[in-house]
Amino acid sequence: MWPYPKVIAHRGGGTLAPENTIAAMQCGLDFGYRAVEFDVMLSMDGVPVLMHDPLFGRTVRIGEAGGVATTNAAELLQMDAGSWYSESFIGEKVPGYAQVVQFCQQHGIWMNVEIKPVPGYETQTGRVVAQVTQALQTPDARLPLFSSFSFDALMAAQQQAPEIPRGYLLDEITPDWLSSLQQLDAVALHTNHKHLTPELAQQVKQAGYGLLCYTVNTQERAAEIRSWGVDAFCTDKINLIAPDF
Ligand code: G3P
Ligand code: MG
Repeated sequence: MWPYPKVIAHRGGGTLAPENTIAAMQCGLDFGYRAVEFDVMLSMDGVPVLMHDPLFGRTVRIGEAGGVATTNAAELLQMDAGSWYSESFIGEKVPGYAQVVQFCQQHGIWMNVEIKPVPGYETQTGRVVAQVTQALQTPDARLPLFSSFSFDALMAAQQQAPEIPRGYLLDEITPDWLSSLQQLDAVALHTNHKHLTPELAQQVKQAGYGLLCYTVNTQERAAEIRSWGVDAFCTDKINLIAPDF
C-alpha cells in the first residue's frame, strides 16, 4: 500500500502560480491540496533554496547571466521569483528551503522534496538537504519523501538520513532501474508518464516498489495510469484535478 498522498501539486501550485514560491504553496492550499512537490538546490554558501533552473534568466533575473551555485543565499533570497509569472506576484521572493519546510509543517502539507543539484554539487546537495531536513523535523510532522534524478545526491541523502524515504527519478525507465532502487534502498520509482507502459508499471509494482508519475495534467490520463498500477502523480493542473481524485 502506498502510504503517501496520491495527488501532488507540482512545483508548489502547478501552473497557477509562480513555481517554487511560498505563493505557489498558498495557491495549492487554496485549491485544497495538502501535498506538494518542489525543487531544491544549494546556494554558493551551501544554503538550500527553492529553484528549478541552475541558471538565472527564466524565473529570476530575467534574461540575465549568473546562477545559483555562484550566488550567496543572502542575495538569492532577495530575488524576485514572481514577476516573470505575472504582475500580481511582483515581489514574491525566492524562498529558502527551511522557510518552506516550516510553512508546510504549519499548514499540514506533505512534501516531496526533489533534490535538484547544480551539476558538480550532487553529493553536497544530497547531504545538506538531508541535514537541514533532519534539523527541522518535528515529532508531529510527517517525514517528507526525497526524490532526485541524481543517484549520487540520493545516496548522500541516504547516508545522512536513512530514515527519510527516497524515490529515484528516471525520465525513462532504464534496464538497470531495479539495481539502482536496491542500492538506494528507495521506496519508489518516479518517472515521466509519457514514457511509461503498462508492462513497465507492472514490473515496478511486482518488485514491490511505489510508482509515482510526473506531470499528469488530465483526469483521463490520471485514471489510465492508475489502472496500470501507478500509485501517485504530481500535476500542474490543480484547478482541473481535485486533490482527492
Ligand atoms: O519530481 C517530478 C518532476 O518535478 C521532475 O521534473 O523538471 O519538473 O523538476 P521537473
Ligand atoms: Mg521537480
